[in-house]
Amino acid sequence: MSSLNKLSSWKEIGNYSNKITEKSLNEIFMEDKDRFNKFSILENDLLLDFSKNHIDDKMMELFSRLLVEIDLKGKIHDLFNGEKINTSENRSVLHFLLRGTYTSKTKELYENDIKKGLEKLKLFSKKFQNGEIIGYSGKKIKNVINIGIGGSDLGPKMICEGLKYYSNRSVNNYFISNVDPSNLSEVLLNINPEESIFIISSKSFGTIETLKNANICKNWFKDKSKNNQNLKKHFFGVTANIKKAKAFGIEENNIFPIWDWVGGRYSLWSSVGLPIILKIGYENFEMLLDGANEIDNHFREKPFDKNIPIVLACLGILYNNFHNCETHAIFPYDDYLKYLPMYLQQADMESNGKNISKDSTEVNYNTGPILWGDVGTNVQHSFFQLIHQGTKKIPCDFIGFVNSNNEKEELHEILLSNMVGQTMALMKGKNILEVKEELGDESKYTNYEIIKNSKVFKGNKPSNTLLFNKLTPYNLGRLIAIYEHKIFVQGCIWNINSFDQWGVELGKVLSDEIYEKIKNKDRSDIDNSTKGQLDFIEKFRQ
Ligand code: F6P
Repeated sequence: MSSLNKLSSWKEIGNYSNKITEKSLNEIFMEDKDRFNKFSILENDLLLDFSKNHIDDKMMELFSRLLVEIDLKGKIHDLFNGEKINTSENRSVLHFLLRGTYTSKTKELYENDIKKGLEKLKLFSKKFQNGEIIGYSGKKIKNVINIGIGGSDLGPKMICEGLKYYSNRSVNNYFISNVDPSNLSEVLLNINPEESIFIISSKSFGTIETLKNANICKNWFKDKSKNNQNLKKHFFGVTANIKKAKAFGIEENNIFPIWDWVGGRYSLWSSVGLPIILKIGYENFEMLLDGANEIDNHFREKPFDKNIPIVLACLGILYNNFHNCETHAIFPYDDYLKYLPMYLQQADMESNGKNISKDSTEVNYNTGPILWGDVGTNVQHSFFQLIHQGTKKIPCDFIGFVNSNNEKEELHEILLSNMVGQTMALMKGKNILEVKEELGDESKYTNYEIIKNSKVFKGNKPSNTLLFNKLTPYNLGRLIAIYEHKIFVQGCIWNINSFDQWGVELGKVLSDEIYEKIKNKDRSDIDNSTKGQLDFIEKFRQ
């Protein structure tokens, strides 16, 4: 592909974006009464309203030309057909097979194996549900401790919390991810080994944090249970490296396989989802997969302007590359989704935080944004000040559910009103005339000027709103798949490999070296600042 900057549609988007922003969002809404109908997508009981963005018909047309110029259609075809699009690791990207999204080619190659893997999970889940999974002393298992990091932690943690309403309340999920002893200690303090199973979740079975934590838990468990034979009832593995898991001491039958074509940050659909399955049951897990499958098909089949992930991807590109927005915010208005922003941070930033293009040259345009966010309405009482009146433009996604799982008086109406109200306030703002009117008689104030100016909101701030009927397993599956495909499309436009993660390697290597230096009191070949820190650590380390 020739450089993105050289594509005619790219240049035109840039030029037109300057022109279109001469008018405010408010103004363009006043001019076009049909704007919501044009710039929203209704997919059964799912709505994407993207009308509050700096776009019009012509901008949409330019983006559709861009997608043709980069051959998005061909790239989607390659993805779903299992071409090795992860070129630096020479791998296919096929996590969506786990939710039943096949082509005739991938079906023939992979379906049998996948069915076997899912069947094993289903069987285990049934036994667990029926109380047949018991500990060494005959007690029923009620604590599920996941030991894993990154994709082997964030997905299961986010979904277990996200679908708590649908869960078995007598199952307690714990997550040990950090190599911080406090993480592990706080979990072990809370559990009785007789009623606990440990799932060592690591695709590579080589991640230092996971292996250290797993070893400590193994020793803790052996110590408590007083018999090495008991391990087999309590230690399970999720991995693509069966050999290493067995060497660690996990029984072969207790190992749930994953495949090299499941990327870590896309792995919750696989056996990495075992903690989810034990918490919400296999049927609910299947609903999660079905919801994601619906979006896979939507993504493969719908035209650009009716395609939720593609539209979201293009809007993200518009702000990232043509409005110089450095960040993108995600605001779920549902307390169960408190880990969603954290989950999406890995999904998006580990995927698209790249500066080398697929042609192995350095890109000369911005790629992945800084993604952040938290739960509404809490956010409104903290950093929303900056979004409303700060100096930065921050495109936002608002995610809401028309019905709550826990209806209580009118709390949910208030929650929804806040969400919708925020998107309106961001767009409309409040001008000086409105402020003056609100303040009334000037003589009542000693500091009229400063109050007046401080109360002005410039508005004209873009946002997307995604509204689902209810937070269900099916809808959460849809939501995650929407973001997965959005990330893929953006990677295609930026011409980067969204599926490797070499950027996390350097830190790992250097921390190993530093660890050796701390142990050996060695200060050779390090800069002054690093040496200063190591000296300080040595002085105060007890
Ligand atoms: O360090 C990055 C990473 O490779 C992530 O991509 C991955 O999700 C995480 O580490 C954990 O890897 P593993 O499942 O192999 O332990």
